[in-house]
Amino acid sequence: MKRIAVFASGSGSNAENIINFFTYDPNVSIPLIISNRKDAYVHERALKLGVNSLTFAKKEFDETEKVLSALNEYKIDFIVLAGFLLKVPQNIIDAYPQAIINIHPALLPKFGGKGMYGSHVHEAVVASGEKESGITIHYVNENYDEGSIIFQAKCDVTPDDTPETVANKVHELEYKYFPEIIKNLL
Ligand code: GRF
Repeated sequence: MKRIAVFASGSGSNAENIINFFTYDPNVSIPLIISNRKDAYVHERALKLGVNSLTFAKKEFDETEKVLSALNEYKIDFIVLAGFLLKVPQNIIDAYPQAIINIHPALLPKFGGKGMYGSHVHEAVVASGEKESGITIHYVNENYDEGSIIFQAKCDVTPDDTPETVANKVHELEYKYFPEIIKNLL
């Protein structure tokens, strides 16, 4: 049995999709969601799904002690970042070698790095006239969006697309592939 924690800073639609995907999987349990924002909508989803959710301030993440002890308490062995906006500190990376993955809403190495999150990514993709975008699932290392790439999937970007329509296409890819890739990695 593998035990996953999902880290999310915002809406948490990926967190919900992943939890639903594994509901009846006897080999996977998702007992914990961790956020850095108390007001993030992901907490409401967690409540509805019957999953515990915790909030740690940026300072607590940076110090890592409380976060690591929660991960230990819940016996977590794999961490999924799904719309999580803080950098993961080295201590946590060291505690979970090759066991932390992130999803980025573009085709890395393009449109990654600091400040490239959420709508900023899709705005940059449209502004630069890209013909395609997509998702990148990658291992997490100490730099934003630079860990080794596990999987990518693409969607078209047409001249009619706006950042919102690109975001919708990318979300579809996230919902379709992210849980499957997690399952394969476990
Ligand atoms: C997703 O597009 C994810 O790739 C990005 O942030 C978004 C999170 O959406 N990093 P949600 O919170 O899962 O709805």
